[in-house]
Amino acid sequence: MKLVLLAGDGIGPEISAATRVVLDAVVDRFGLPIEIEEDLMGHASLAKYGATITEAVLDKVRAADGLILGPAATFDFKDASRGEINPSMFFRKRLDLFANIRPSRTYEGVPSKVGPFDLVVVRENTEGFYADRNMESGGGEVLVTADVAIAIRRITRHCCERIARAAFELARSRRKRLTFVHKANVLKVSDGMFLDICRSVAKEFPDVETDDYLVDAMMAHVIRAPHRFDVIVTTNMYGDILSDLTAELSGSLGLGGSINAGTEYAMAQASHGSAPDIAGRDIANPISLILSTAQMLDWYGRRRNDNRYVQAADAIGAAVEAAVRTGQATRDVGGKLGTAATAAAIAALLQRPDLVGAA
Ligand code: NAI
Ligand code: MG
Repeated sequence: MKLVLLAGDGIGPEISAATRVVLDAVVDRFGLPIEIEEDLMGHASLAKYGATITEAVLDKVRAADGLILGPAATFDFKDASRGEINPSMFFRKRLDLFANIRPSRTYEGVPSKVGPFDLVVVRENTEGFYADRNMESGGGEVLVTADVAIAIRRITRHCCERIARAAFELARSRRKRLTFVHKANVLKVSDGMFLDICRSVAKEFPDVETDDYLVDAMMAHVIRAPHRFDVIVTTNMYGDILSDLTAELSGSLGLGGSINAGTEYAMAQASHGSAPDIAGRDIANPISLILSTAQMLDWYGRRRNDNRYVQAADAIGAAVEAAVRTGQATRDVGGKLGTAATAAAIAALLQRPDLVGAA
């Protein structure tokens, strides 16, 4: 398995280095043939190559079996014509990674703001309110006059169908409950289409129980009783917002892992951004990117029917659980360790046969 790792901006280099330590441990423990190549993305790439992400890196990524994408300081990148491209959008669009799958759950030992829960937000990743990916050419956000700005939200039958199907399949492998989140009372045409398609795809999955909520009320429901939710499917921006909420409710945004999956490719990516407020201080929680990487190994192993990768992913999950349970984690989740020491603790736990089972 060939992987490309792009560390990115802010806390990116710290959490990427931590993820590498854990990956190296899992390679060692399970004898996995994983090769990792690192390259540049974000400010470092802009300084060296004149663009935050380059076609050359995309070629490398296409030739590899997976990408670990660190966070980028996207708010700094204003002008694509000057090479200031949003790398996250770039890969999602160019590799058609339509399903952003963001699990959130509570952990023993982590102080959480609500009772126990275990859910997954499935977010459409290639259209919706994110106007930068909605056009064949040109941007979907335009300044009509100096005082009038318009952003075009695209919703298509094709994208609704494939995200709904991905969510139903996931729900079928879990507790068989799927919640559609929308705002079809106001966005009657676009969210109306999303909701209608979710309901019609439901007929293919009679074993999955469904319900739906308006996105604003959903915020209250998820805080009031998060345990009621299993898989949640929604359009791009609602999913972006809702998944930051569920990650923080589970204890910290620093626990929020995700993959961006297409039909042929998956990219591991933390749910959060580059966290400039804590960068360079060895305090960022690396678990988000570590769990994202585990999720990508699991996706890869299942697609290839190669159980070693699935076992490795489970082992990383078990080691993370043990680390947070015993306080070997960063301060945001109640631990006392720094970023690097947290990774070392997780790597050490991966060597314990009682913890992760026989390799
Ligand atoms: P953020 O997600 O970077 O940070 C929000 C809050 O969560 C901050 O208090 C931060 O310290 C904390 N946090 C985030 N990750 C953490 C971790 N691993 N451990 C502990 N605490 C963590 O959001 P913010 O500050 O709004 O954005 C910063 C930059 O990141 C902006 O330039 C934004 O555009 C960019 N961004 C990039 C994303 C990406 O590359 N996928 C996604 C979201 C934002
Ligand atoms: Mg986000």
